[in-house]
Amino acid sequence: MKKIQIAIDGPASSGKSTVAKIVAQDLGLIYLDTGAMYRAATSVALLKQTKAPQEIISYIKENPISFKNTKQGQLVFLGSKDVTSLIRTNEVTNHVSFVAALAEIRTFLVAEQQRIAAEGGIIMDGRDIGTVVLPQADLKIFLVASVDERAKRRYKENKLKGIPTELEKLKAEIAERDRKDSTRANSPLKQATDALLLDSTGKSIQEIVQFIEQKAQAL
Ligand code: DC
Repeated sequence: MKKIQIAIDGPASSGKSTVAKIVAQDLGLIYLDTGAMYRAATSVALLKQTKAPQEIISYIKENPISFKNTKQGQLVFLGSKDVTSLIRTNEVTNHVSFVAALAEIRTFLVAEQQRIAAEGGIIMDGRDIGTVVLPQADLKIFLVASVDERAKRRYKENKLKGIPTELEKLKAEIAERDRKDSTRANSPLKQATDALLLDSTGKSIQEIVQFIEQKAQAL
C-alpha cells in the first residue's frame, strides 16, 4: 500500500481521536494526535507562567514532545516527563484555545507535524490538518456531532476517569471552545473544500471507522 495520508478535522469531542486510533491500527498507519501537541505546549505555558510564544517554544526545543505507543494506549512526553494525564486536566483544556491561537506556536508545531508525516503513512487529527498541515492528504474527513452528544461523551469519559464534572458546564465549555477555535485569526477550524463531512451524532464508532476504512481502501 502506498504511504497514504488521512486528515481528520472537527470540533472538540467529535470522536476524531477514538476513530483515528482504530483506523491507524487497522491500516498500519502512524497516528498523530495534534491536539495533544497544543495541549503539551499549554502545559508549558502554565508551568512557566508565560504567554510568550518564544519561551514556550524554547522549552519544547529543549524538551521535545514525543509519543510512545504502549498497551495502555499512546503516552505523551515532554522531554523525559510523561504528561499524558496532565494535558487532559481541566486547567490545560480551559487554556489550550489561547495557546493554540498564537501564530508562532502554530508555525512551530505545524513544521513538527509535517516532519512526522514525512516518515510514512499517517492519520492525523486536529483542526487544520486538511487545510494547513496536509493540504495534499489523500483523504480528508470533517467529523462533527451535536454539542449535546459531545458533552455527554466527555461526561461519560470523565466519569470513568473519576473526574467530577457537570454536564451543563461541559456543554458551555465545549460550545465556547468551538467558538474560539472557529473564529481565531490563525488557521481556524474549517472544513477543507475537498473534505467529506461526517456527522457522528447517533452513529457508533464502528460505523464511522468502517466508512473511513472503505474510503481509504478505495484510494
Ligand atoms: O483535539 P483536542 O481537543 O485535544 O485539541 C485541543 C485544542 O488544541 C483545541 O481546542 C484546538 C487546538 N488544536 C488546534 O488548534 N489545531 C490542531 N490541529 C489540533 C488542536
